[in-house]
Amino acid sequence: PRTAPILVASNRGPVSYGLGEGGSLTAKRGGGGLVSGLSAIGSDSGAVWVCAALGEGDREAARRAGTSHLNPGDTGGQQVRMLDIAPDVFAAAYNGIANSVLWFIHHLLYQTPVEPVFDAEFAEQWAAYESYNAAFADALAQEAVAEAVVLVQDYHLALVPAMLRERRPDLRIGHFSHTPWAPPDYYRLLPDQVAADVLRGILGGDRAAFLTERWATAFADCCAAVLGAEIVRDGDGDGGEEGSGTATAVRFEGRETRLGVHGLGADADFLRERSRQADVDERLTSLRAQIGPGRKSIVRVDRTELSKNIVRGLLAYRRLLETRPEWRERVVHVAFAYPSRQDLAVYRDYTERVRRIAEEINAEYGTEGWTPVALHVKDDFARSLAAYRLADVALVNPIRDGMNLVAKEVPVVSERGCALVLSREAGAYAELGEDALVVNPYDVEATAQALHEALRMSDGERADRTKRLAAAATALPPQAWFLAQLEAL
Ligand code: G6P
Repeated sequence: PRTAPILVASNRGPVSYGLGEGGSLTAKRGGGGLVSGLSAIGSDSGAVWVCAALGEGDREAARRAGTSHLNPGDTGGQQVRMLDIAPDVFAAAYNGIANSVLWFIHHLLYQTPVEPVFDAEFAEQWAAYESYNAAFADALAQEAVAEAVVLVQDYHLALVPAMLRERRPDLRIGHFSHTPWAPPDYYRLLPDQVAADVLRGILGGDRAAFLTERWATAFADCCAAVLGAEIVRDGDGDGGEEGSGTATAVRFEGRETRLGVHGLGADADFLRERSRQADVDERLTSLRAQIGPGRKSIVRVDRTELSKNIVRGLLAYRRLLETRPEWRERVVHVAFAYPSRQDLAVYRDYTERVRRIAEEINAEYGTEGWTPVALHVKDDFARSLAAYRLADVALVNPIRDGMNLVAKEVPVVSERGCALVLSREAGAYAELGEDALVVNPYDVEATAQALHEALRMSDGERADRTKRLAAAATALPPQAWFLAQLEAL
């Protein structure tokens, strides 16, 4: 206790454990954009990473460690404290509130004629979310030295900044959102008290940071609409007029929380090194064989996640084959859709739907020597990198996304240049929009047209665009992203 000068808190940590028969534990690296970004912290920074035990293996590891840190051999040297939160509390907070409510709100995922329904079950889950957040605040308060800096991550932990300030007013606290932020009209679907508590929770910190200015602005707008907070803007103060520029801070109940924007970039050094290793080469060979000689490839890599818009992506590909028969037998759509949040029925249904549409397209257009869609659902990072290397076109069409790191990774790893079809609703659009083929993710027809243009792009143009995309994508690599937040605090 009380040794850490820097603390990071997130639901998912850098490691998770499988539990074997006889109680043996096997460590595996955590996935997702947040973990990729934070892995740059480095073991020599003195930072302690506090995360939750997600499954039975994690719980066992957390119990064995007690209040000490996990075995550094499992974490790449990183000091990690894993919290053993009661399984029912964790499930209600993570599946119930974080992934079914807050994630849905920020990604605009509800079918509003029938959802959401805030009833007694919701009230119970909300109480669990509060106690899960309090468990983090307690652990952080124990670990932090005087005046330590604490970086709290994401929608799972929205209440932590205010809870932690109450316990330890000496700390400097920042919150970072890896998701979009909902616009006020949509945000106010939440019960009034909950809508206010989430904002107050984040405003308990000294800083609230986001992946793009668009999400920071939406957060400030929600603070004004729900709490009546004052938004401080660029240009405020000169001559007493109110500024009309970018929101820079939120003032509420006598405190000021500064707003920040840090567009997490791809880790070029890591990706280039990793993508040239033998396991990636092997997968490259088998992917090439699967695609077939002389054919082009359209690649996508996502968690099977509702916001990623995989279904409309497949529909656009089907439309391409229908309206541009010249591409039949000449292209393969390589779609990696890795299972995610399978405790939730909507995610399982969505995964099934993705499988079904891929099968339909293959039944409809496939020939003896050509399978139009190669769908893979088993998570394999080396195979994703192999696909990045050979892709002619990358399809990144989320209906809404905090950033989307795939859009930033592909141009870095691509060997011959890759045309990027990119949704304007991904945070990455702010930085990559100029050299991508930009689509409205709901517009299947326009997405099919963009795929056609991407496939037709000349080698020279593709290579030039890819070079510029790679430069923009690596402007703020994870280590610099992390340091920028520390410095700002
Ligand atoms: C997004 C969220 C992260 C989350 C990741 C994977 O990137 O912003 O906080 O860790 O998805 O989702 P999961 O539920 O598997 O942690």
